[in-house]
Formats: sequence, structure tokens, C-alpha cells
Amino acid sequence: MKTFYIETFGCQMNVHDSEKVIGTLVSEGYSQVDTPEEADLVLYNTCSIRDKAEQKVFSRLSSFKRDLGKGKKFAVLGCVAQQEGERIFEKAPHVSMVVGSASYNKLPELLVQLEAGNQRVTGLNLDTEDTFETPFARRDNPHRAYITIIEGCDKSCAYCVVPFTRGPERSRASESILNEARMLAESGYTEIQLLGQNVNSYRDPSPAGLDFASLLEKVAQIPGLRRVRFTTSHPRDFVKEIVDVMDRNPVLCNHIHLPVQSGSTAVLNRMQRLYTRDEYMRRIEWIKNSHRNIAITTDIIVGFPGETEADFEETLSLLDEVQYDSLFSFKYSRRPNTPAIALDDHLSEEEKGRRLTILQEKQRGIQIRRNAELIGSIQEVLVEGFNRATGQWIGRTSQNRVLNFSHPQGEEANLLGRYLDARVTRSGPNSLVGEPVNLV
Ligand code: SAH
Ligand code: SF4
Ligand code: F3S
Repeated sequence: MKTFYIETFGCQMNVHDSEKVIGTLVSEGYSQVDTPEEADLVLYNTCSIRDKAEQKVFSRLSSFKRDLGKGKKFAVLGCVAQQEGERIFEKAPHVSMVVGSASYNKLPELLVQLEAGNQRVTGLNLDTEDTFETPFARRDNPHRAYITIIEGCDKSCAYCVVPFTRGPERSRASESILNEARMLAESGYTEIQLLGQNVNSYRDPSPAGLDFASLLEKVAQIPGLRRVRFTTSHPRDFVKEIVDVMDRNPVLCNHIHLPVQSGSTAVLNRMQRLYTRDEYMRRIEWIKNSHRNIAITTDIIVGFPGETEADFEETLSLLDEVQYDSLFSFKYSRRPNTPAIALDDHLSEEEKGRRLTILQEKQRGIQIRRNAELIGSIQEVLVEGFNRATGQWIGRTSQNRVLNFSHPQGEEANLLGRYLDARVTRSGPNSLVGEPVNLV
């Protein structure tokens, strides 16, 4: 029996790609093992979004140099594979397969080459019309499933590698998406997450011709689904119809992730984000005017080249204005091939670090306040796990907040995958604590 081990870095798209890769490997006769030591084939599905992410795979690979000659094979998949291509064979000579995400549907033939002893198997073509569709995806979570609706990205944000690592946008046919969602609902999944680097630019290539809002509405109507989420929304393509569809369909969760990157229009302009602060705020108003109580989260980059102290303060004031429920924040990282590396006035690591700390402190205060406002409210949670260290169950609210709670029977209660109502009793910056009500 041939065995493989896979480790995944990066975003949900990568996590889901790995599920599809695992399904493909299993259907090709491989079986998955839990450690690289046990495996004949070790795969890393990599991320290149920031320098630190890219370094991870090379540090993993260097720790395995000594396994050379023991018959173990190494493969690099994903965004670093696409970005570095055959250079990976020079940097890490024990790697014998390098495959980017646009070539995963060729994996069966690439595996044949690998098994035949080819030392440099590559799948690096980007100009594909195909999307990676497989009936074999092996999903880890029995209740929540990812579905890819669009691959690649046609934007050209000045700092970002994704257009190079994932290629041009390709939308999946709506029938295929809806069939997959129906099949998942029939097999017991209750939560679906629709994935794409920019879900808002979804354009159905089939005669149905759905746009993203209409696709959302169709997915929301599938019997058996209780929660539908989607990520990521690019503000430029975010239309009011999306909020209208959410208003009509309670199955769509109370959460929109709308990455802003900066609160300064001048910086947004240099980032080539294609919207101004005012245009972004208009979208925030649509969301806040909804009948639903929609949580808003975002991504921020601090220290983009040329970001002045005044620009940075505009980002801080945007945080005050929007009152995000949560955010991811990053120091700008120079990435190969991106236009931003040629810009003037790169900031020092120290200054970027200083701004990041200030931003995160400010947001921490906002989150403490916003979470405290929920004390006393009743929240429906999907139970996602049990924390043995604290003896608490872990649930997630529709707004994507973590809510921990105890149950008299502890782990024996077997609540995984259930939907419960909980009253919020305490709150912290990153999570809530509650007690279940009307437990049956
Ligand atoms: N498609 C998504 C973003 C995917 S990358 C979107 O457009 O919103 C996730 C986040 O990583 C980005 O939102 C951005 O905040 C961050 N990021 C991307 N490139 C980066 C870089 N070079 N340095 C620091 N952060 C970066
Ligand atoms: Fe990157 Fe911009 Fe595309 Fe998002 S929209 S993946 S930040 S280029
Ligand atoms: Fe990373 Fe590629 Fe996702 S660069 S964030 S794994 S699209």
C-alpha cells in the first residue's frame, strides 16, 4: 500500500484544495497517514501570501534532508509551487514534484510519472480554462463543508501574489455548484461555505447565467442547509443585492468579511484596490441598514510603501467608524513580481511593527466592547468541538463568534454538530461564554 502525508498552509481555498487532493490520491490507491515519517509521499500544500508563510515550507523541507535516499518522495503543491516553479528543485533537491493549484486535475497522470521514477515532475500551467472539480473531495469536518465557486483572481492589488499563484478567474457552472451543495445537504452537512478569492465577481459560465447574489439565493434554498457562509468579498464588486438576498434568507449567516486593507484613499489608490474610503463606507452602510444583525470583519495591511503617519491614522479612524467585529491585520510584506516592490518609501520592520501593535490594541478595545454588548442575549450556536483542557464545548454563532459553554455531562453529552440556543453570560475580546437554554 502506498502512503502519503499532507500538510496544508494558507487560506480556506488551500484547505479545500487539500481535501480534493486527498480524495484524488485515495482514489489513485494511496492511503493517508498522520506523520511524515510513516509516509512514502510527503506533500506540502503551500502559501506565499507573506514572506513568513513562504519560509515555512522551506524550513519543513530542510528538516527532512536526512531522509534522502530512504525512498521517501517529496512534493510541493499550491502557491509557492506556482510562484517558484522549477527553482524549488534547486533549493530543495529532494523534492521531485512541484504542482500549482491550476494543475491539480492532472494529478493522476503526474503521480504516474512520479511512480515511474521521474525526479522532476511538474504541473505549472496557469492558462487553464478548467476548474478543479472532483467527485472525490475528502472532507474532514462532518458538519461544515467548503465549496469552491470561483478560482483565481483578476484584480491586481499592488502587494498581492495571488493573481500570479492562482491565475485568472474561472467561475464554476452553477449547476455543478448547486448539485454539490444538494449532495452535501443530503449526506448530512448543515453548513456550507462558498469559497473564492473574490466571490462577488462570480459569473456563471452556464446558460443559467447567475450572478453571485442569485447563486447565493439558490444555495440558501436547498433543503437541509441551516447555515451558508461565503468568503472573500472584494469591496469593489460588492453590490447591494447581496445584502438584499441576506435580508430575505435567514439561512445566510449574519456575517460579511469585507477586506478594506487601509482607511486612506491615497493608500488604497496606490494599492490599486479600485475603491475609495467613501465607496467602502457606502457598502458598510448597506450592511448596517439591513434588518439582520450582520457582523462585519476585515483585513488590514499596515506599513504599505509610502503609508504616512496621517494615512495610518485614517485607518485607525476607520476602525472607530465601522466598529468591526473582528479583523486580521498584517505588516506589509514584499512579494516577488508584485508592483509594490518598485514603489518608493518602504517602511522599516520596526515602524510596521509599531503600527501593527497600535492597530491591534485599538481593535482589542472595540472587540471587548462589542462582545460585552451581547451579554444576556440568546445566540444559536453550531457545536463544533470540545475543549478537554477547559471541559467546555465550543460553539459558533451565526455572526462567526466563538461561544464556549459547559454541559453537566461534559464530553459525554455528545453535542457535536448540534444547533443549540445559548444565553451569553460572559465575554472577552475574542470569544463569548454562555449557557445552553432549553436543552433537551
Ligand atoms: N482575495 C482576498 C485576499 C486574500 S489574501 C481579498 O482581496 O480580500 C488575504 C489577506 O492577506 C489580504 O486581504 C491582505 O490583507 C493580506 N495580504 C495579501 N498580500 C499581502 C502582503 N504582501 N503583505 C501583507 N499582507 C498581505
Ligand atoms: Fe489579492 Fe487583490 Fe486578488 Fe484579493 S483581490 S486575491 S488581495 S489581488
Ligand atoms: Fe496563501 Fe495562496 Fe491562499 S498565497 S492565502 S494559499 S491563495
